[in-house]
Amino acid sequence: MASPAANMKIDGDRLWDSLMEMAQIGPGIAGGNNRQTVTDEDGEGRALFAKWCKAAGMSMGLDTMGNMFARREGTDPDALPVYVGSHLDTQPTGGKYDGVLGVLGGLELIRTLNDLDIKTKHPIVVTNWTNEEGTRFAPAMLSSGVFAGMHTQDWAYAREDADGKKFGDELARIGWQGDEEVGARKMHAMFELHIEQGPILEIEGKDVGVVTHGQGLSWTQVTILGKDSHTGSTPMPMRKNAGLGMARVLEKVEEIALSHAPHAVGAAGHIDVFPNSRNVIPGKVVFTVDLRSPDLAVIEDMEARLAAAVKEICDTMGLGYEMEKVGGFDPVTFDEGCVSAVRNAAERLGYSHMNLISGAGHDACWINRVAPTAMIMCPCVDGLSHNEAEEISKEWAVAGTDVLLHAVVETAEIVK
Ligand code: GLV
Ligand code: MN
Ligand code: MN
Repeated sequence: MASPAANMKIDGDRLWDSLMEMAQIGPGIAGGNNRQTVTDEDGEGRALFAKWCKAAGMSMGLDTMGNMFARREGTDPDALPVYVGSHLDTQPTGGKYDGVLGVLGGLELIRTLNDLDIKTKHPIVVTNWTNEEGTRFAPAMLSSGVFAGMHTQDWAYAREDADGKKFGDELARIGWQGDEEVGARKMHAMFELHIEQGPILEIEGKDVGVVTHGQGLSWTQVTILGKDSHTGSTPMPMRKNAGLGMARVLEKVEEIALSHAPHAVGAAGHIDVFPNSRNVIPGKVVFTVDLRSPDLAVIEDMEARLAAAVKEICDTMGLGYEMEKVGGFDPVTFDEGCVSAVRNAAERLGYSHMNLISGAGHDACWINRVAPTAMIMCPCVDGLSHNEAEEISKEWAVAGTDVLLHAVVETAEIVK
């Protein structure tokens, strides 16, 4: 028997308008966004989201990590809520959709249920997780990680940005530190809609990715210590060039990742060179090696080979070094029931779909440890993300959000 809401669809124009309005906050320098976590701009984005949630009749919860929980009541006071959501923070040169689509797609599904006067047995909660990006304060997915019990809150509060500011102080400063105990909430299920951030869906011509797994990640921060000295007058044999040591390590990172092709990747996106002056040989470099694979044994092998390479290179060159693991999570297998709800929704709605492994980390990767979880992905142009030129079409956003709506409503159970 067809469900009473079998044909319901979200309002694509309203979703798109909200995405564009949010993108006005924390504009980047090339058409994207710089709305980094717990900045004034993040505070402004949160206030806009909170205003929209209130207008949609939802109540707002705020926990001690600044995670926002906008709730639409269900008809059964004892039923656990179905959660949806993602993050509103961006990279320093981020796009308009990474994370934002999952939060505003969640809001749009609530607005649609309101328009159609559809009630669900389970409440639905739309979440904005704090500091997903991990760019200002490592690691990524910091607050969903605390929520899932992977990090302590004290450790998270003490994380420092490049200026030595602490995460906890900055969260309090922007006024979005709540009283609710982090991680106390119980979830019936959680769904995260996200752009793919890779090229597969576009190449395959599919509307929707049904995310079955997420690849694991390892972040090792490496500090190499040499000696600051004049670039012109220090003889080549007398140099202790930390920058050169890093260059040799990065060649090894490429080689190590390629040795596990095609399912492993490695790079350093964070590099600080000291003193960063044109005519001083760098006496210190600090960089973070990002290694990823869907296979835990491969990640462990790459970590061990990285450690050996740093030791060998630095010992040979007479440089000092330190290594610290600053982030990581094991490969993820999403919940079969939630994954089926996503696949069934795409099927019923007539959207073409395929299974995907997420290449990026997501809040869903941590929440999967404490609740049944799945993800939905939509294509993005040329697979480009973490770039201000990140782009999606309105049709792709609509397909993903329609699937989110149907998967959530099926799980939250329509009351006839
Ligand atoms: C999170 O955005 C990650 O995959 O690094
Ligand atoms: Mn994201
Ligand atoms: Mn991101």
